[in-house]
Amino acid sequence: MSNLNNITWHEPKITNEDRRNQTGHGSYVLWFTGLSGSGKSTIANAVSNYLYRQGINEYVLDGDNVRYGLNKDLGFSDDDRKENIRRIGEVAKLFVDSGKIVITAFISPFCSEREQVRNLLKEGEFIEVFVDCPLDECERRDPKQLYSKARSGEIKEFTGIDSPYEAPENPEISIRSDQLSVEQSVEQIISYLEKKNII
Ligand code: PPS
Repeated sequence: MSNLNNITWHEPKITNEDRRNQTGHGSYVLWFTGLSGSGKSTIANAVSNYLYRQGINEYVLDGDNVRYGLNKDLGFSDDDRKENIRRIGEVAKLFVDSGKIVITAFISPFCSEREQVRNLLKEGEFIEVFVDCPLDECERRDPKQLYSKARSGEIKEFTGIDSPYEAPENPEISIRSDQLSVEQSVEQIISYLEKKNII
């Protein structure tokens, strides 16, 4: 339960403008969402690599990695997934405050939680990237053999099988990862960022 009675918010002395002057770019969240096996992590890391090589201050938060540490107490029930995304949203906001472009790669299956994160941030700071890949293609790829375990009942509450995935209705960027190569996907994202003068 939250108790803010004896908590005081301290306004940082270094402003977003100061950080922008130092890095030469603003801070944003590139929020990847999509089914397991859709290519979120692969494309997110390829975008990170591209930005890094351009001298941009970026960082990737990835589903599996965050579940090793910060969120290791959470499973895959609807409530745990919502708490997972709530915490990641707060962490992403801290990264934005620190002047970075943070790239997140979580299934983040619910529209309402993704909107909650959008609303935590200032207008324009949240860029939703839908990694759109049909379920049967994700299942055919099955890179971690999780779909076959879900089909056999060894894993319960697996996204797309017996747990829902709500596709974004109006994402800033939509990538058909079953039709594009990783390089083409990166190009699509980078050209969006350039068009919006983000980089
Ligand atoms: S969520 O829904 O946003 O809270 O999920 P996320 O934190 O991104 O974690 C997804 C990764 O966890 C592994 N995994 C599962 N995914 C979905 N459903 C179930 N039941 C599950 N169990 C384990 C899986 O490796 C996911 O990684 P990706 O990269 O999406 O395949």
